[in-house]
Amino acid sequence: MPNKTELIRSVKGTRDLLPPETTLWERVEAEARRVFGAYYYREIRTPVLEETALFARSVGADTDIVTKEMYTFRDRDNESLTLRPEATASVVRAYIEHSLYNEGGIHKLYYIGPMFRRERPQKGRYRQFYQIGAEVLGSDHPALDAEVLEMLTLFLVRVGIEEYGLLLNSVGCPKCRPGYVGQLRRALDDVKASLCEDCRRRAETNPLRVLDCKVEADQAVIAQLPHILDYLCAACRQHFDSVTAELRQRGITYQIAPRLVRGLDYYTRTTFEITSGALGAQNAVVGGGRYDGLSEMLGGPPTPGFGFSIGQDRLMMAVEQAGALKPSTLLAAYIAWMGEEALAPASQLARELRREGIGVELSYEPMKLKKALGVANKLQAHFAIIIGEEELASGRYQVKDMTSREQEQLEPGAIAPYLKQKL
Ligand code: HAM
Repeated sequence: MPNKTELIRSVKGTRDLLPPETTLWERVEAEARRVFGAYYYREIRTPVLEETALFARSVGADTDIVTKEMYTFRDRDNESLTLRPEATASVVRAYIEHSLYNEGGIHKLYYIGPMFRRERPQKGRYRQFYQIGAEVLGSDHPALDAEVLEMLTLFLVRVGIEEYGLLLNSVGCPKCRPGYVGQLRRALDDVKASLCEDCRRRAETNPLRVLDCKVEADQAVIAQLPHILDYLCAACRQHFDSVTAELRQRGITYQIAPRLVRGLDYYTRTTFEITSGALGAQNAVVGGGRYDGLSEMLGGPPTPGFGFSIGQDRLMMAVEQAGALKPSTLLAAYIAWMGEEALAPASQLARELRREGIGVELSYEPMKLKKALGVANKLQAHFAIIIGEEELASGRYQVKDMTSREQEQLEPGAIAPYLKQKL
């Protein structure tokens, strides 16, 4: 009978990730953990809910993220809470809250998890999306910027992404940026009438934001605006030159992008994005940069920081296109048993193999051999293990390679080592 009850679907801009796609996500996450671990990054898990003020203060009150995109609500005790739109602010909050600075030295932290921004959904853009990010706190050494980029590019190569562009810029520091912003404001005075409404407002409130306007019609005008790189103070210039020298030394190619100011206000000095041609309009896979003043903005001690966030949804699209990593079928063996007496030995074998970490499936419903092998095929099992009357009598089960069709007769105790050797 058709069910008349209206279906409840996932919320607009959110989606379910299903197997086998999730197995590819797991592989990519495992690779991130491996590569980041090799650079001595350790995992931090911060809450998805934060006080709204955290993002207003760090990401910036006049950014698109804070003005238009946050999921903010009043909790029952009237506190304003927000589903995190990004995690850098949370990492720095946690760093301060737990006085990690007391331990001295630098802290290298990474995170993997969902973020929330109420953007217009489209391919590669979601309202709940996922980031894999890393932050290093406690040093402003330019070699660290380069080391992080080295780690990031190693990770990209490890997940099969060889073709990408690294766009690099410096947004200066509180000493030199105001001079540039003044210059920008003056340049904007002459042209802002021809820009979009948002840009006309930004020209007054936060001129830097004009530079990352995405409106097509504004781009020609924006391209003529002064470049921040021409206004850096000596210290920022030297920092930037050292970062680029370190990158060259590491064989990392980059492109200078003087308009890359990024959509968050906490940045100082180095900013960067990694784009992938494979992705179309939403082509920024990674965004990051230095945020030497963020800790102080949040009431902590002066603590320079640098980091990045990979948009995992977009990364996965590029990974799939590159095709080097495949979703895994975890199923090593399907046990096909025939006749009621075979069920107990079949389930015992399943238990033994599973204890060895070998992926096994079996049905508790009796089936004919042909049907059982059909199920094994459908589940993409590497092997089918056949236990019927004859096998029970001889004490040797048939182990059939579902691809090569080769078949071995093995005692139950020999099956785990055999599968381990073959898989
Ligand atoms: P972001 O540039 O805002 O930077 O985001 C980083 C990446 O997240 C983007 O390049 C994109 O791949 C992905 N992303 C952003 N919004 C969406 C969306 N709506 N749907 C799908 N993917 C999206 C940050 O979040 C900073 N926390 C980066 C950072 C870390 N800076 C320093 N440390």
